[in-house]
Amino acid sequence: MKDKITIAIDGWSSCGKSTLAKALAKSLNYIYVDSGAMYRGVTLYALRKGWVGENAIDQEEIVRSLNHISISFEQNKNGTPDLLLNGENVESKIRTLEVSNQVSKVAAIKEVRTFLVDQQRKMGEEGGVVMDGRDIGSVVFPNAELKLFVTADPDIRAKRRFDELVSKGQDVELADVRKNLKERDHLDTTRDESPLIQTEDAIILDNSNLDQSEQLEVALDHVKNALAS
Ligand code: DC
Repeated sequence: MKDKITIAIDGWSSCGKSTLAKALAKSLNYIYVDSGAMYRGVTLYALRKGWVGENAIDQEEIVRSLNHISISFEQNKNGTPDLLLNGENVESKIRTLEVSNQVSKVAAIKEVRTFLVDQQRKMGEEGGVVMDGRDIGSVVFPNAELKLFVTADPDIRAKRRFDELVSKGQDVELADVRKNLKERDHLDTTRDESPLIQTEDAIILDNSNLDQSEQLEVALDHVKNALAS
């Protein structure tokens, strides 16, 4: 029986990966790392500098600035991690549709990925970590003892993300959220650098018809098996 394992959770945009990863980490007393937040942090930095917009991206400036960007996490009062960008808590600022609309372009830059993957590996080197993203099982932790590939019907995903943004007071249209998810899924799966793939050893978890506690229960069963094997 293993003591603590590494759990890699990959999947489509807004399919409930973070919710599952957070719940798993809490239940197992593991560290939770939201790798997407890290790509969002770099994107916010680039947006503030005017280096990324609707039709253009200044990749060179973004790559040159990486050594001025510090990405870290701090626990909030709910016990979940907030993203810090150069020491500033930007947790709510990285969740806007403006950042969502640009993040896949920034995440496609090779140097940005190398910069963040190095940090992600350090965060998980002791084991006992649940990390969610797009390349966790394929690139960040190819030897993870448990890899889950989370999926859900695209309309259900769009509605969930829409409800989440509205509950946070954001003024968004369902059609725009759906369009953003479709575009991100396309960019994330077709980029040259570490595209979203389902690795052969990943277990598919379709949560279209599962609520959060049912999804957690299914995942915990997989954890039990991984710990025993
Ligand atoms: O999980 P998220 O929606 O917050 O991720 C934001 C974007 O970052 C997503 O569209 C793709 C990118 N991403 C990535 O390329 N690799 C990761 N490990 C995590 C996220």
